[in-house]
Amino acid sequence: MQNIRIEKTTCPKEKPGNDNPLTFGTIFTDHMFEMDYEEGKGWYDPRIVPYHKLELEPSCMVFHYGQEMFEGLKAYKTEDGRVLLFRPDKNIERANRSNNRLCIPEIPEDIFLEALKAVVDVDQDWIPTKPGTSLYIRPFVIATDPFLGVRPSHSYKFMIILSPVGAYYASGLNPVKIWIEDEYVRAVKGGIGEAKTGGNYVASLASQVKAHDEGYSQVLWLDGLHRKYIEEVGAMNIFFKINGVVITPELNGSILPGVTRDSVISLCKEWSVPVEERQISIDEILEAAKKGTLEECFGTGTAAVISPVGELRFENDRMAIGEGKIGELTQKFYDTITGIQLGILSGPEGWSVEV
Ligand code: COI
Repeated sequence: MQNIRIEKTTCPKEKPGNDNPLTFGTIFTDHMFEMDYEEGKGWYDPRIVPYHKLELEPSCMVFHYGQEMFEGLKAYKTEDGRVLLFRPDKNIERANRSNNRLCIPEIPEDIFLEALKAVVDVDQDWIPTKPGTSLYIRPFVIATDPFLGVRPSHSYKFMIILSPVGAYYASGLNPVKIWIEDEYVRAVKGGIGEAKTGGNYVASLASQVKAHDEGYSQVLWLDGLHRKYIEEVGAMNIFFKINGVVITPELNGSILPGVTRDSVISLCKEWSVPVEERQISIDEILEAAKKGTLEECFGTGTAAVISPVGELRFENDRMAIGEGKIGELTQKFYDTITGIQLGILSGPEGWSVEV
C-alpha cells in the first residue's frame, strides 16, 4: 500500500465553540485527503493537505455530465478519548458499488480505510463532544478530464473533507413532517437510484422546494413505475411500525442501501422485533393510519441518524403519527445506535472501528 503523505496547515482555523449549533455541513476542518487517478497509472499520491480551494478546468467532465460519487459517515470521540468510526467497511463497500455503476474506477479498500483513519486522526481535535454532535466525513470522487464528449473520464480526484455537525434537521429529535410526492419521481429500477451520486439528489430538489413551501421538511418518494410503492425519503431510508411489526421497503435497485437502515434491521433481529423488508403500497399506509395501527414512523441515515416522523401528507390526506412525540421503539433505536457510535454500548462485531 502507498504511504499517505501528510502536510499540516501552518494557520489552523478557529474551532467552533461549545455554544455553536453546528448547523449541518457549514463548517470544515483544517485538513482534507486527496488522491488522483489516471488511466494506466491507477490511484496515486495519497496525501493529507490543508483544506483548500480546488483549481479545475471549467471543461472538467464532472461539471457537465455529473460523473461523481459521494459517501457519508461519522466519527465520534468516546469519554476516554478514543476516536471511533461507525461501520466504515459498509461505506467503502457501497462507494465501490456506486463507482462500478458510474464507471468510476474502484478505490482499493485498504487505502480508503487508511485515508479515513488518517484524516480523522489529523483533525481529531475538531470532533465535537456535545450530545447529538459528531464529525461528519464526506468522501467523494469527481471526474476531472477536460473534455466535452460523453464517455467515462480517464482521470479522477478522490477527496475526503470533514465537518463538525449537530442534528441534520433543525428540529433535532422532534418529529419531522414529510410530504409524499405525487408528481415527480426520484429514480427508476435500472437507473442510478441505488448509487450514491449527486444526480439522485438534484432530481429531488424541485419536490423539496414544493414540500418546504407547504411546511414539510422532506419528500417521501413513490416508485417510478406504478407511483404506488414507498421508496425512500430525500436524505434517509424510511421505516414504519404497523401493528407491532417494523416494515421498510426492500432494496429493489432504485433505493439507497443505507448503513443505518441495515443497522436497524440487524437490531430488530437481535431484539426479536418482527421486521419485514418488502413492498409497501401507499394504500397500506393510508389504511393503517385510518385504522390507528400506524404506530411509529422514522427515517434512518448517516446524517439524519434516526429521525422520528410526526406527519405524512399524501395529496389531501394528512396522517398524524405519535401525537407529536418520538415513538418508544424509535427512541430505543436512536439510543442504541448513538450509544454504540459513542462507545457507551458495545455493538455487534465490527460496528466500531478505532482510528
Ligand atoms: C448521509 O446521510 O450521509 C447523506 O449522504 C445524506 C445527505 C444528503 C446529507
